[in-house]
This record gives sequence, structure tokens and C-alpha cells, in this order.
Amino acid sequence: MKEKIESREQNVYNKHRNMFDRGKNMAQKIILTGDRPTGKLHVGHYVGSLKRRVELQNSGEYDKIFIMIADAQALTDNADNPAKVRSNIMEVALDYLSVGIDPAKSDIFIQSYVTELTELTFYYMNLVTVSRLQRNPTVKSEIQMRNFETSIPVGFFCYPISQAADITAFHATTVPVGEDQMPMLEQTKEIVHKFNAVYGETLTDPQILLPENKCLRLPGTDGKAKMSKSLGNCIYLSEPEADVKKKIMSMYTDPNHIRIEDPGNLEGNTVFTYLDAFCNDGHFAEYLPEYSCLQELKDHYTRGGLGDVKVKKFLNNVMQEELSPIRARRKEYENRIGDVYDILKKGSETAKREAEKTLAEVKHAMKIDYFDTPEFLEEQVKKFK
Ligand code: TRP
Repeated sequence: MKEKIESREQNVYNKHRNMFDRGKNMAQKIILTGDRPTGKLHVGHYVGSLKRRVELQNSGEYDKIFIMIADAQALTDNADNPAKVRSNIMEVALDYLSVGIDPAKSDIFIQSYVTELTELTFYYMNLVTVSRLQRNPTVKSEIQMRNFETSIPVGFFCYPISQAADITAFHATTVPVGEDQMPMLEQTKEIVHKFNAVYGETLTDPQILLPENKCLRLPGTDGKAKMSKSLGNCIYLSEPEADVKKKIMSMYTDPNHIRIEDPGNLEGNTVFTYLDAFCNDGHFAEYLPEYSCLQELKDHYTRGGLGDVKVKKFLNNVMQEELSPIRARRKEYENRIGDVYDILKKGSETAKREAEKTLAEVKHAMKIDYFDTPEFLEEQVKKFK
């Protein structure tokens, strides 16, 4: 018995050392973000989040960056299609690497490998009510989109809680995501506050970081609000140059702008929305020197006398300039799939170690760490003496 208590002391020491390390962590700036692997990433992901991630990564302001391929979350509404999720793990990893996520600076990992996340989710479930989940606007609209109204899978219904686990497991201070993820962050913050109030200060309160650019969401090339694979209206990061050009040349513009002389409308004009997202003054000097900036081009278009084809060709030049280095880097990584596999494996192992520490802290706070410190045994010895 005495021996047992002594070996526990080593554990206590380790534990305190961990906590001390974590104390230093408090001042750290940590990013956690991710995507569901349900398809290749497209230019909407790029302007909405990927580009920003790379900037944040290269700013040197963050101590740790975790980028998660959320396969477990993808399964919450693709339970019957595990092959789709599996086949998109590598696609998404390649997309990350090709836009400039650098595995030396950012940890790319696969969610399901970090089983601690599932355990955290289970404990957080006690802190959230069914009615609160029902009020989550993102969940609400996704239930409609997927025709889940009559029978909602429980796992899907609870995914905001699992997202709270994803974020808190890494003590993330900063979560760079699109506007649609705002309700998830609010829900996470509520869970953090509740947990800390009930069990003592343990979890880190995260901040959402929304995209800076005015164009938060790119429409599909057909002008429809949402890009979707089934509508065939996405431009993928991995798409060949000729296919991108074809999609740009057939993009939705102003349906009433029939002859060149007609005044054109910018409202809902996809070509201009894409230009807003992608072009800068430098592009004019390079590809369209008769104009000095986008405003001049827009003015000419609304006045009349500027044809769609000219604008589309310009957009094509602008987008190809942005996409060709991405495409080239993707090719390089495609030729080294074994290395990408190693990047994912190493990243997942690092992430798991991080989440293990947090889970230990959570279990300690919840007083369910029976075998990690001598306290439980000591209490019982005293009680039964
Ligand atoms: N819900 C996100 C998406 O749809 C993916 C995701 C899962 C995520 N867990 C996260 C994003 C935690 C940010 C933080 O793409």
C-alpha cells in the first residue's frame, strides 16, 4: 500500500509539472480550425478561410496552429458513406499543403485519431440542453438542407458539442472560420463558461476570427448563393487551367447586359464578385492597363460599352495567376503521397498528445481522475479506517 502511494507521488509531481507547463500556455496564442472532408476544397474555401490561415501561419504571431480534417464530424451526416469521407482525407490534406499550409509551422491532423475528443464531447454533453441545440441556427438550417426534420441523427444533432471539444482540447485562443461558424463558437463559449463555473477554471475561452475581406462568401459560377458539387458550380483548387477558364468564361453575369453598349448591373454579377475577391491594382497594370483599378472597370461596365467577355478574360488572368502556384505545389505533393501520409500521421500524433493533456485536466477538474493522483485512495483509506 505504501509503495502504491509513493508511486502515485511521482504521478502527482508529473501532473503538477504538466499544470505548470499549462500555466505558461495560458499566455500562448493557439489556433484551431478545420474542414469536413466531404469533397475537394474550392476557391470559396480559399477566399473564405484558407488564404487567411496561411497569412496567420506566416505572421509568426501564433505559438501553435492545429488544422483538423474533421472526418468524425463529416460522418455525422454521412454515416452511410464512409468511403466518401475516407477518399477526401488526402484530397483535403493536399489542398492544405498546396495553398501553403506548412507542416513545419502548422499541425495537420485527422480528427478521429484523437479519440480524446470523443471523450470530452461526452462530458460536455451534460452541460448543454436539447433546446439549446435546437436553437443553434447553423444546426437548424443544416437539418432543413439535409431533410433531417423527421429524424435527426443524434450524432449530427450533437456536433456543436463535439466542435467545442475540438476547440477546447487544444486550449485554442483563436478560431479562424467563416461567418456560418459563429453559432458554433457561441455554443463553445457557453460550454467553456459553464464548465469553468461548475468544475473550476480549466478550459480556455476561444475567440472567433472572421475573414477580413468584404467578400465573405463566394457564390457559385452560376450565380447561385451556394457552391455545391452537385450543382457543378464550383471552381476547385485542384482543377486544371483549361477547366477553370471554361467555368469563368461561362460565368453568370447580368442577364440584361446583352449588347456591349447596354449599361451593366454589378449587383449579383458573379464576375465582379469574384473580381472583388481576387483582384488588386497590380493586376490592371499587368493584364488590363487601360484601367487603373477595379472601380474604373466597374464604372465603365455600369455606364455601358464594356462587354462581358473582356471582363471574364481579365478575371481568368487574375485567377490563373493565383491558382497556378497552388496547382504546381499540389502536383509536387501528389508525387510524394508517402510524405503527405507521414505529415498526417505525425500531425495526428502531436495533436493526440496535446488532447491527452487537456483530457487529464478535465477529468481532474471533474474529480474522475481516480488513478492519476493518490487523493482518491487516501480519501477511501481514511473513510474506511
Ligand atoms: N464545422 C467545420 C466545417 O463545417 C469543421 C470543424 C469541425 C471546425 N470542428 C471545428 C472548424 C472546430 C473550426 C473549429 O467545416
